[in-house]
Amino acid sequence: MLNANGAAPYQTRRTFAIISHPDAGKTTLTEKLLLSGGAIRAAGQVRARGERRRARSDWMKIEQERGISVSSSVMTFERNGIIYNLLDTPGHEDFSEDTYRTLTAVDAAIMVIDAAKGIETQTRKLFEVCRLRDIPIITFVNKIDREGRHALEILDEVQEALALDVSPMTWPVGMGSDFFGVYDPKNKKFHTSGGERGGPFAVTRTVEGLEDPALTDGVFDRIMEELTENVELGAEGYAAFDKESFLEGHLTPVFFGSALRDYGIEEVLDFIAQYAPPPHSQPATGGRTIAPGEDKVTGFVFKVQANMDPKHRDRIAFVRLCSGTFKRGMKLKHVRAGKSIAVSAPIFFFAEEREIAETAFPGDVIGVPNHGQLRVGDTLTEGENIHVTGLPAFAPEILRRVRLSDTMRVKQMRQGLQDLAEEGLVQIFKPDIGSNWIVGVVGVLQLDVVVDRLKAEYGTEIGFEAVNLSTARWIETDNQTLQKMIENHRMSIANDRDDRPVFLFKNAWEVGYITDKYPDVTFRETREIV
Ligand code: G4P
Repeated sequence: MLNANGAAPYQTRRTFAIISHPDAGKTTLTEKLLLSGGAIRAAGQVRARGERRRARSDWMKIEQERGISVSSSVMTFERNGIIYNLLDTPGHEDFSEDTYRTLTAVDAAIMVIDAAKGIETQTRKLFEVCRLRDIPIITFVNKIDREGRHALEILDEVQEALALDVSPMTWPVGMGSDFFGVYDPKNKKFHTSGGERGGPFAVTRTVEGLEDPALTDGVFDRIMEELTENVELGAEGYAAFDKESFLEGHLTPVFFGSALRDYGIEEVLDFIAQYAPPPHSQPATGGRTIAPGEDKVTGFVFKVQANMDPKHRDRIAFVRLCSGTFKRGMKLKHVRAGKSIAVSAPIFFFAEEREIAETAFPGDVIGVPNHGQLRVGDTLTEGENIHVTGLPAFAPEILRRVRLSDTMRVKQMRQGLQDLAEEGLVQIFKPDIGSNWIVGVVGVLQLDVVVDRLKAEYGTEIGFEAVNLSTARWIETDNQTLQKMIENHRMSIANDRDDRPVFLFKNAWEVGYITDKYPDVTFRETREIV
């Protein structure tokens, strides 16, 4: 199936995420991208939608109280024949695991930086994840309508801090109280309010160059001098845009803009349409690489959200399609379980609504309602026995013993913890000795979410006790060695939710000691989820 331009539908897909430090403007930019794509009709709806969603479930009160975004979602919109799938990533550092997995499902990312703050801690961490996966990055320097750092200083910082070539695509014309707009030297366009300085973006003027009165009239001389200097220095001092370099993740194009005042939004969308990659090939087990142009459908679950509606115990598995043409009602093989499932009510997520997905292509994300069969990392195929690879679970950095107030509710507690573990919110470890499970998380805030959700969704009150443990490692060895280890260290060995053996360590010294003592054993910090 080809479109009017002779392109396969997947080639029109752009699946991307926005990464940023909290407060840099991710929500505002998301909203403006959706507005620009015609997906929403009024500003304020991303936030409003977030609030409605929060109101639906008690545990999400945490989001509300702390002003952070915990759950991620998918927003699809179309503009000029391109289908944009924007995957939202939680910005809070305690949810980096969830974010990491979402980044396994995108082909590109927009990195939003606050012009006054530059690269912040969370931006850097998320950037590193993108780099590991060779995800091309587009940089959006936001809030230039406010007083910020000098444009060249920001470019240098991105270049040095991230060891990346930068290629300025647009320049700010003034900043803060002297903000006149954005200049695009390549296309010779001046984006301005058309009226007083600092106003929202309203008109684009085509100009001959930096001397054109359509640009210079109305802009302070001082600001014009600075702009001219920037453009000249920019052409000499930074890399010219190179598509290959961008796609390989060595170069980032930099757009200056203001999400709040609408500057730079269309430029970023046009850039994504023209240069960001269509769906990439996906590595799988057995040395197989799944190409998006293959006939048969494959997809993988990168996120599971349980109890989106507390009245129904349903879960939504977010499946990123890797190949083939998916059609509603299709029977797909759930490879881990070795069973076939009929996908009869797949969902597309739009900004304002959800819709039944009749047909979907590589790069698209469909929500598959299920009763708990589908887990993060699962692969769906049209029969082939392969697993998509590259979705890791991380060794938790915080371990706690679960304390149950009402011992009559052990069953509900275990079910709840198992469910939340399958969603990827926590990891659970069942010790060889003793009946109390240990919960492992990467960030402490996850523990609060567990307590709240067990109460709201499973009617079970739990607390956590400190344990003298600092980390866990997955054990990989032959059966005989494993048995010997279990005999010698019964107190320290547990099973994870899939009954894989794990060593629970008291401290870094013990990690070293045990690793030396068992040279034939590999202690893994991460493991593939499947
Ligand atoms: P986040 O999702 O990355 O956390 O950031 P968000 O979009 O919520 O933006 C954080 C704050 O920065 C908001 O102000 C928002 O209005 C402001 N902001 C975002 N983009 C721009 C911009 O281009 N220019 C200026 N001047 N401000 C911007 P707030 O006061 O915290 O929230 P609100 O009360 O305005 O909603």
